[in-house]
Amino acid sequence: MIICKRIKDIEKQLVALRKEGKKVSFAPTMGALHSGHISLVKARQKAGWVTVCSIFVNPTQFNDKADFEKYPITIEGDIMKLIEAGCDILFLPTVAEMYPDGFENKKPVDFGFLAQTLEGEHRPGHFDGMAQIVEKLLRIVKPDTLYMGQKDYQQQLIVSKLIEKRKLPTKLIAYPTLREKDGLAMSSRNVRLDAHSRKVAVQLSKVLRSSILKIEDSKLKRKAADATAIMNTAKAALAKHPEFEVEYYELRDAANLQPLATIAPKQKVVALVAAKIGGVRLIDNMVG
Ligand code: PAF
Repeated sequence: MIICKRIKDIEKQLVALRKEGKKVSFAPTMGALHSGHISLVKARQKAGWVTVCSIFVNPTQFNDKADFEKYPITIEGDIMKLIEAGCDILFLPTVAEMYPDGFENKKPVDFGFLAQTLEGEHRPGHFDGMAQIVEKLLRIVKPDTLYMGQKDYQQQLIVSKLIEKRKLPTKLIAYPTLREKDGLAMSSRNVRLDAHSRKVAVQLSKVLRSSILKIEDSKLKRKAADATAIMNTAKAALAKHPEFEVEYYELRDAANLQPLATIAPKQKVVALVAAKIGGVRLIDNMVG
């Protein structure tokens, strides 16, 4: 695996590979890699594509300084995992390399409601910072395909809009969330959970699954489902665990995240949750 720390170095490598007719697949990450990230890196290997992964803990997308400071850094282990996974190029830039002129985002994309709701409401500025760095990375790597995990559902919708609005020549592919055996969504933040919080955290996926099962049951019966009632039941189930500080539990239209009161039998919906437990903020979602 080639490790590039400078933009000009990775650009040089990729120009040479493209001259050989290679296609490029890209998985951007903030490190602390788990099997979910590795599945994104491996996605196009069988097709003989060049696989690029970036590790960059992007300061502009953290609205909470403590969250940024506590973000797990496991670079040596990450490099080993990427070599083992057969990653071709790791892009590992510094903050100065990515933000040589400071953090100001001179021409932010206006994502409207999509970036204002849910995560946008609870993490002001997060999506501007995320889109700012993803655009920079896409302009450097110029991948044919970009792989992102479905765990960050809203992020993935925003990146899709970013690609459309900036007319970038990349196809976004959303990859299914990988889960631990008990159902907890894999996340770099899971390593910060203490034993008790880890045990309780599984309730997030259990409650999401239960909401989706109810919706699917209504769909099978060709009946509309009562979104408000399903959300209230889910919130009550989570409230039984005082360890959770729930920020939101919502059922939304899967395409645009608009709120729903009822769910029509053919409607695709997403159930999304964000909650803090033991000082660690977790998100998860399921589509039905
Ligand atoms: O999902 C993440 O890890 C980050 O938001 C991303 C896409 C790497 C941008 O910093």
